[in-house]
Amino acid sequence: MELRRLNGHGLSLTMNLRDQVLERGYALMPTWRPERSAGDVATSLGEPLSLGGRDPVHALAPAAKETSTPNTYSGLYGVQGFPFHTDMAHWRVPPRYLMLRCVVGFREVPTMLIDGAELAREVGLKLLARAIVRPRRPVLGQLPLLRIYQPMEEGAILRWDEVFIKPASRAGDEGSAQFREMLSHCKYRSIVLAAPGDTLVIDNWRMLHARASVPSGCEGRKLERVYLGRLH
Ligand SMILES: [Fe+2]
Repeated sequence: MELRRLNGHGLSLTMNLRDQVLERGYALMPTWRPERSAGDVATSLGEPLSLGGRDPVHALAPAAKETSTPNTYSGLYGVQGFPFHTDMAHWRVPPRYLMLRCVVGFREVPTMLIDGAELAREVGLKLLARAIVRPRRPVLGQLPLLRIYQPMEEGAILRWDEVFIKPASRAGDEGSAQFREMLSHCKYRSIVLAAPGDTLVIDNWRMLHARASVPSGCEGRKLERVYLGRLH
């Protein structure tokens, strides 16, 4: 893989990582520096975000519905597959990039990706830019009005999450219904993070992701997640 061949050439590596993420929406680096911590790797790739001043590295592990916080994906879906979504879709400006890194992995539990920008073009950018949605629950005491497709100075934010946001206008209803319909027929890519150090960087303003269901025997899956504001 292109990025592996560049191992040892730090600058070229990170330039190529960003190019690849911007071009394809994601980049996979198999067994990427498994001896280093997720925090170190994230810092070498971009600018880690500490949400609310907390540790930028989040441990992700399958959890049964009963033992999870309500209103989280695990609380709602447990070890079932998660629906496709972008992360922090209920924020005005969701984190741009997301890094997932394997600690303990299983081929049986892939991370699935869909190019949301492509999907949005098929649905119609005009409709989605008018499609007003809002968080289901207040964010910092507020329920901001957001758009499924939100052009920005540089690029655009695509937000999709049926758990955390809901339509808040007629165009919001229509855009959500059409997007959901298109999504249900959409082909996805399965990315396997199975070996320690397998690292996936996703453009969270563009790609939808989902976790496959966790069959018995794979409950020990462990990933680390870091949000990145930008890539070097
Ligand atoms: Fe997610």
